[in-house]
Amino acid sequence: MSNGQEARRELLEPRVRVLHDEAALAARVDELARTIAARVPGDVTLVGVLKGAFVFLADLIRALDRHGLTPRVDFMRLSSYGMAKTSSGRIHLIGAAPDVAGRAVVLVDDIEDTGRSLAFARDLLLEQGASAIWTCVLADKPTRREVDFAADFIGFEVPDVFLVGYGIDYAERYRHLPYLGTIE
Ligand code: IMP
Ligand code: MG
Repeated sequence: MSNGQEARRELLEPRVRVLHDEAALAARVDELARTIAARVPGDVTLVGVLKGAFVFLADLIRALDRHGLTPRVDFMRLSSYGMAKTSSGRIHLIGAAPDVAGRAVVLVDDIEDTGRSLAFARDLLLEQGASAIWTCVLADKPTRREVDFAADFIGFEVPDVFLVGYGIDYAERYRHLPYLGTIE
């Protein structure tokens, strides 16, 4: 990167601190895939929650291939924070629900915070006729929980910090960062 680009980047991303770097993410995703592969059927359907889970899911699905699975993939979009840092607490589906009738599903999200999104998405996929469902998140913030919901597969437990990078945004920025970071 040129000095000019470096300076510009510092201006754009003034306060991002690396929490888990690329190597740590790759190693943990591979371990997660090994654990998941031992528990779920080979033709499982991964349902990613957009947009935050897209990078994690892209790595996870290829790691599952390395561990012998032949997963399908689908996505669903939920109402989000918008431009705020705290959830409104009211979750709803945007657009169509994935077709999971009769399928074993792993629901994949970036972060479990209050737990409302995952609980909502799990119930919705069961209503759509999923035959079995597990949940997987890259990062879990257990101290923030407001509904009693524990993900089956967790990449990293994190404290109450605001995460960005590896697909995760703040006001639609920072998704491109190849690492998981925090901002104030
Ligand atoms: P919950 O419904 O409160 O569990 O919120 C989960 C969703 O909130 C995640 O899928 C993220 O989209 C968003 N979220 C929670 N914490 C963070 C964060 O630290 N950074 C960015 N988005 C977050
Ligand atoms: Mg999300």
